[in-house]
Amino acid sequence: MNAVSLRAQSPTVGDPMAFRNVLGHFPTGVVLITGIADDGEPVGMIVGSFTSVSLDPPLVGFLPAVTSYTFKRLRTASSFCVNVLAADQEDVCRRFAGRTENKFDSVPWTVSPSGAPVLEGVVAYIDCTFESVDDAGDHHIVVGAVQELQVCRPVAPLLFFQGGYGRFAPMSLHAPFETDLIAGVRLAERGRAEMDRLASSLGAECTAMAVIDDQMAVLVAGSGSPWDTEDRLGERIPLMPPMGELCMAWEDDASIDRWLARALPSDECTPQEYRERLQAVRNRGWSMTMRGDYRDEEIFAALREYSSGCYTPAQERGIREIISRTSSSYAPVCLEDGQKYEVDSLLAPVWDAAGKVRLVLRIAQLPSAVSAQQITKWAEQLMNAAAAMGASQ
Ligand SMILES: Cc1cc2nc3c(=O)[nH]c(=O)nc-3n(C[C@H](O)[C@H](O)[C@H](O)COP(=O)(O)O)c2cc1C
Repeated sequence: MNAVSLRAQSPTVGDPMAFRNVLGHFPTGVVLITGIADDGEPVGMIVGSFTSVSLDPPLVGFLPAVTSYTFKRLRTASSFCVNVLAADQEDVCRRFAGRTENKFDSVPWTVSPSGAPVLEGVVAYIDCTFESVDDAGDHHIVVGAVQELQVCRPVAPLLFFQGGYGRFAPMSLHAPFETDLIAGVRLAERGRAEMDRLASSLGAECTAMAVIDDQMAVLVAGSGSPWDTEDRLGERIPLMPPMGELCMAWEDDASIDRWLARALPSDECTPQEYRERLQAVRNRGWSMTMRGDYRDEEIFAALREYSSGCYTPAQERGIREIISRTSSSYAPVCLEDGQKYEVDSLLAPVWDAAGKVRLVLRIAQLPSAVSAQQITKWAEQLMNAAAAMGASQ
């Protein structure tokens, strides 16, 4: 492609949305710049524009917005301290990026050699005096003369990219050691005969998914049915509402809260309704999803993208939206005699010795327009197989 054709496709430079969009493709680190304002109060602002400027003399810089209220206060301080946030400090970042009062309450901190706040848990601090403050459009360019600096906690820093937070992952041969995955594979492999029996007797797709942290992975498929599930093996499914209710139903409150926090604001189901769904699953002991008005291919494509592990925050938002749109399919259905149902899948928990749901056994590709009795019969067979798999460890 030559320069002329690139220019033809280029968005207008003056378009703020285009500016933000293109610049949003560049990642930044996240620091908290702190100081003690002239009224003696601690102030802090989150900054992605921090950079090292010069080694000799040692200078660093950042770019606060001209409109920043916090920077107006920070400028009255005699020094400032750059706190490099760690990957597990997203909550600290959100707190300080907001406009709430008393941001330093309930966040433990000590003081840097110059007297500016250093938050507990930061990767490093760089203590500075103001060298210069210049104007650059709607931002200032602040240069700081480094007085003291130290690594406090040599862990991965927090990164910001396309409006999302993440962490650095080295592109090396190192593979993460997933203990839960290994335990799940062993359990599923031991239960393979049960799964084969279920798949062939129902003529349905039968898969076992392991619960690994905040996701499930499709591990084993029962053979003996006409359904070929080979290309779904290894697929990852995020535990975000509405998905994963069977794994969450017996979890503690903190885990359920974490699961609920992953629901999209646009989700048509409220947190209270999701809690009721979990209660319905607990009462029943198994769960059921109905065929919805979404396209299976769209879900599978989204899950494939998620499973690749290579997606940007913008793509992740797209995946989450597609998943969120399936919410109505997970709504509890009271089975009534004389009614016909369009069942997408039935799921049952496989418990490990420690009383945790270690695997989810799932049957799908079931016949259309089935009666309540038929579903109850499938559920019984599924629960029996799940119980046998759990007991066989
Ligand atoms: C990841 C991230 C990076 C940011 N980077 C900057 C920055 O470089 N300059 C800036 O002025 N504000 C930046 N902000 C915004 C400020 O942290 C914060 O929202 C602002 O200081 C609060 O408004 P106030 O200063 O008017 O109180 C950033 C926010 C986030 C979440």
